[in-house]
Amino acid sequence: VNYNVEKTRGEISGALLDGLAKLEYRGYDSAGIAIDGDAPRETYIVREIGKVAALRKKYEATGYNQDVKFTNHAGIAHTRWATHGEPKVSNCHPQRSDPNNEFVVVHNGIITNFKELKTLLTNKGCTFESETDTECIAKLFKYVYDVNIKNGNHLNFAELMKQVLFEVEGSYGLLVKSPHYPNELCGTRKGSPLLVGVKTDKHLKVDFLDVKFPDIENSHAINLSKDNLGLDALPTSTSTLSTSESKTLQSEDGAPQSSEFFFASDPSSVIQHTKKVLFLEDDDIAHIANGELQIHRATKDDKLAATRSIQTLEIELAQIMKGPYKHFMQKEIYEQPESTFNTMRGRIDFENNTVTLGGLKSYLPTIRRSRRIIMIACGTSYHSCLATRSIFEELTQIPVSVELASDILDRRSPIFRDDTCIFVSQSGETADSMLALQYCLERDAFTVGIVNAVGSSISRGTHAGIHINAGPEIGVASTKAYTSQFIALVMMALSLGHDSVSKIERRKEIIQGLKHIPEQIKKVLALEEQIKELCTKDLTEQKSLLLLGRGYQHATALEGALKIKEISYIHSEGILAGELKHGSLALVDDELPIIAFATRDSLFPKVISAIEQVTARGGRPIIIKNEGDSGINGEKAIAVLEVPQTVDCLQGLLNVVPLQLISYWLASNKGIDVDFPRNLAKSVTVE
Ligand code: G6P
Repeated sequence: VNYNVEKTRGEISGALLDGLAKLEYRGYDSAGIAIDGDAPRETYIVREIGKVAALRKKYEATGYNQDVKFTNHAGIAHTRWATHGEPKVSNCHPQRSDPNNEFVVVHNGIITNFKELKTLLTNKGCTFESETDTECIAKLFKYVYDVNIKNGNHLNFAELMKQVLFEVEGSYGLLVKSPHYPNELCGTRKGSPLLVGVKTDKHLKVDFLDVKFPDIENSHAINLSKDNLGLDALPTSTSTLSTSESKTLQSEDGAPQSSEFFFASDPSSVIQHTKKVLFLEDDDIAHIANGELQIHRATKDDKLAATRSIQTLEIELAQIMKGPYKHFMQKEIYEQPESTFNTMRGRIDFENNTVTLGGLKSYLPTIRRSRRIIMIACGTSYHSCLATRSIFEELTQIPVSVELASDILDRRSPIFRDDTCIFVSQSGETADSMLALQYCLERDAFTVGIVNAVGSSISRGTHAGIHINAGPEIGVASTKAYTSQFIALVMMALSLGHDSVSKIERRKEIIQGLKHIPEQIKKVLALEEQIKELCTKDLTEQKSLLLLGRGYQHATALEGALKIKEISYIHSEGILAGELKHGSLALVDDELPIIAFATRDSLFPKVISAIEQVTARGGRPIIIKNEGDSGINGEKAIAVLEVPQTVDCLQGLLNVVPLQLISYWLASNKGIDVDFPRNLAKSVTVE
């Protein structure tokens, strides 16, 4: 928040903490706040792991005088969901440049070149206090600032940020506060959302802001990471941003006005203060100083409009929390184009067809030497293992078995020191999986964690691992974690099979297939209206549903059935199509809906024959097929859902999405609390 109006410290910290509380639904593991201290240039930082309530308690216990008045003030706060570094106080945001808090930063996203930056900054004498990627940004601000000052350049805050961003790669929603720029705030975004809420006491003169495109050719970057030029090589002059042409926010009569600005990653924490909101674009730098907001560009992009409109939000707080979605599960289903992309971000080089998994790299030889690979998980995570087992074996030429965590323990299955055991878990806290991990560690197996929650027990307890980076999943029924686990496992198989010459073409095909998955998922999501109608007309009143799949699609059938039963309470079973005639065919009549996965792969003819066995007995299937595939006759089907085609081993990533939507609409039609179905928990921490 940035206030250009008199407020007490109590009011300021209250607004920040209340704002954080409004973001709680996003899921997080720690929180922090930075505000001005009593002495000039002093910044107070308070951070705590756990809930915002815990931070509030810690803040209240500091004894800071809450009645001190400020006529101008800039404060920042953050809830953190760990990506680099487990949840502990030193890893909470705000992160700082130095013990004097010269630059204090909060950040959402991932800085992909943070290791390089950390090495360079360490060489320049910086001492790091956390394991976060964010700390690099704070330190980089101070470094770039100091270098400029040494060379006689007094940059304004926006120009300083622009120079810092030259060095930073990755995704970010970023806010910075500094006593060098008292009462000012700078924010920017790339890939992570950031908006500015605007509240003034007078009528706004403009309802949009012009964006100033700085001439970046004339702007100098230190190029710290690329050329390692460092202090001595800094140019002696640096272009600064002229602000004269930037339209700023002023009251109609031009008189100074009191203003309040609220940066946030979504409107839920802003709406209680103002409904006037400006959504920033990637590479926008928003600079607030002296009650004025200016927008600049970090890079030149002529395609982008040179204005940013200030929108008046019509929606109420409760609606915003889930965005336009009714439930978190629906939101998470719709996040999949983004979450699948985030799983691959910085790991796959689509031009050179290579995969680099930082957390596994040095262990690949150990894993390759394994006698066998055992994947161990529960629930949906177990299905992601089943879905990728075959491609794992094909690419690694190592036998792979897939185990339910509880079952491997029940059997006291033999585990050897030359086994690699892969633990797949969204939460990283599932008790059955944890116990199985313990069991395998006791037998000296090599263990790998594929986990969404950073700092969780499984991510800490395994020898190596991959974070799937899907972002917090709140709905009990797992959706985006499944597609991201699937991709993480495929990436692991690709890494393991890296030196196999005979597999080069296959690897290329898969990597290129992965590249298009996010946009293809978007296309599948467009089926929602058709699916909604199908559910309302034909499925909601059913007592039972069968799902039929073969080969790669067996796992999709099992996962689809799990989704349907866990949230719609309709009995549902996934069947391997080859097994149909060995029992389940007896259930077929003209009532029971049978969802069949008939997308193209080598088993397609066999699936067609299974569908024929169903229709020959009066059954009416729901067919999921590839777009425009004329090789399948949908005449007797209740519905045909068309999905884009991808590489055979990736098709399950697309085929599962209609099932997620079917289960969602079945449950929603029945008025079930989709996010919290009866008897189930998101993270089952008991055996
Ligand atoms: C619970 C959840 C499922 C989840 C399973 C495994 O049963 O309701 O959605 O798939 O646990 O959880 P994990 O966090 O280990 O992936």
